[in-house]
Amino acid sequence: MDSAPGSVVTTLIYRPASWVERLRLEELFPVSRPLEVELGSGDGSFMAKWAALRPERNFLGVERLLGRLRKLDRKGQRAGLGNLRLMRIEAAYFLEFLLPLASVTAMHLYFPDPWPKRKHRKNRLVNERFPELAARVLVPGGVMYLRTDDLDYFAQMREVFAADRRFVAVDTPAELSEVVTDFERGFSARGVATNRAAYRLTSA
Ligand SMILES: C[S@@+](CC[C@H](N)C(=O)[O-])C[C@H]1O[C@@H](n2cnc3c(N)ncnc32)[C@H](O)[C@@H]1O
Repeated sequence: MDSAPGSVVTTLIYRPASWVERLRLEELFPVSRPLEVELGSGDGSFMAKWAALRPERNFLGVERLLGRLRKLDRKGQRAGLGNLRLMRIEAAYFLEFLLPLASVTAMHLYFPDPWPKRKHRKNRLVNERFPELAARVLVPGGVMYLRTDDLDYFAQMREVFAADRRFVAVDTPAELSEVVTDFERGFSARGVATNRAAYRLTSA
């Protein structure tokens, strides 16, 4: 965060001293707790609500658009969420190079950009490499939670996780399913069906 220790918190957005070394989580969070990460948190309704419901956990929201991150920053500050921090960064880089290894208890990726045109599919965040990157940062027993409205992307998500024997499919707990994201609320209002999946890392 930008504030000095002991000063009034002015933003939950964290800027690391180095963009090439893995984060030192003790610099982000005043209290050490199990960590949950959301990639592409958007306007942040999900993260703000979920972090408020789970004060025994720390939360790190990652988003590349500053305007959306600032909305989540304001929500988090209004709610006095001492367990929430945010970073403006590209999610794939963050996942591969900045997140500490074996540090994440739950990772959330909800309604990532679907890149529906065939020639653009290489831009999808969840690709053949994604389970390997997730396996590196999750703690054993940690869970990757996914939601999407795009059926082709959903099939790809299930395929890449099914191909990695370290992951087993698990149910999304009801209390988590009930906390909807901004995009999910929009889909639901328009009657668009959405899909969810979750995968537990059985061994590192
Ligand atoms: C379709 S929106 C979904 C937002 C939110 N998860 C929700 O469900 O309401 C996708 C979000 O991911 C962000 N995003 C897309 N690609 C990203 C990337 N490579 N790194 C970080 N954020 C990304 C976008 O800026 C956008 O806010």
